[in-house]
Amino acid sequence: MELFDSLRFKIVRRGIKIVFPEATDARILGAAARLKAEELVDPILIGSEEEIRTAAHARGIKASGFTIIDPNKYEQWDEMVEAFVQRRNGKASKEQAEKILKDVNYFGTMLTYMGIADGMVSGAIHSTGDTVRPALQIIKTKPGVSRTSGAMIMVRGRDQEKYVFSDCAINVNPTAQELAEIAVDSAKTAELFDIEPKVALMSFSTKGSAKAAEVDKVVEATKIAKELAPQYMIDGELQFDASYVPAVAQLKAPDSKVAGQATVFVFPELQSGNIGYKIAQRFGNFEAIGPILQGLNKPVSDLSRGANEEDVYKLSIITAAQTLID
Ligand SMILES: CC(C)(COP(=O)(O)OP(=O)(O)OC[C@H]1O[C@@H](n2cnc3c(N)ncnc32)[C@H](O)[C@@H]1OP(=O)(O)O)[C@@H](O)C(=O)NCCC(=O)NCCS
Repeated sequence: MELFDSLRFKIVRRGIKIVFPEATDARILGAAARLKAEELVDPILIGSEEEIRTAAHARGIKASGFTIIDPNKYEQWDEMVEAFVQRRNGKASKEQAEKILKDVNYFGTMLTYMGIADGMVSGAIHSTGDTVRPALQIIKTKPGVSRTSGAMIMVRGRDQEKYVFSDCAINVNPTAQELAEIAVDSAKTAELFDIEPKVALMSFSTKGSAKAAEVDKVVEATKIAKELAPQYMIDGELQFDASYVPAVAQLKAPDSKVAGQATVFVFPELQSGNIGYKIAQRFGNFEAIGPILQGLNKPVSDLSRGANEEDVYKLSIITAAQTLID
């Protein structure tokens, strides 16, 4: 089944509520209208009702079916301020909270934290940091996960060749423990997309062929990841060719169950991860979907500012599907 058909099938008519803080943006409105009409998501739009209706009208969209929440008129405002102060646990006063929560990303994140929404999609007009930081501070990571990370789903061709690449977006230089957690979370993300996880922790070395502190980190991360999730096929340290090309795997890592057939590629730090997915996208003609933030208690997704309506629609479907991962 085509990737998005499978995801649509998982989420349709479940009433999953996704909050969109950038609700006057035409791309967001267009995607929200489609998601609502197809019964994939119940959109919650943040902003002034009048402004949203005007923007929707200009775009030829009927706004009547949307739930709109205006932070300036929000009935549960006091409760939200109180919950925020409690969650920040000494890091924000009531006065600071009142100010911070006027920011639509903080407001949307709090709606998600409070259970009024199930997830959030933002970032069409905000930077990654501004979109993601509220989630890191409020929603936080799941038990056993110390860092959230950003996975890309790489898809190519008619027969839908699919891989997971991570971390391509968040952690500049993860420790061995963090890298191990990224590997395990990426395996879970793979399952969501019906990809059988075979996880390669990548390096410039394969099974001791090179010596360096950077390689030691990947060796250690592989060991920790195997302990954390013995149910998954995980191996490292592997070079990319040893991970992907069966003939090279035969030569370099003949005993590995992952080498030559990896589906989840874990990069040792952000520079290689970010460069790596873009090379696959531009040289390899892969469609790059994401970044998908993994390991948060509730899903929050960061759009690229260059995103179009279709990108918003797709990332919202993914975000809704992520609410189904435990
Ligand atoms: C994601 C990012 C914006 C967070 O930056 P930041 O706000 O400066 O982070 P801080 O260190 O100040 O931490 C803020 C809070 O988030 C938490 N946090 C930061 N990174 C985290 C992570 N990866 N996972 C979980 N929590 C995290 C911190 O613990 C802190 O929580 P606290 O306030 O409750 O103590 C930052 O890691 C970043 O810019 N990464 C690179 C993103 C990027 O440029 N990518 C380019 C490709 S898209």
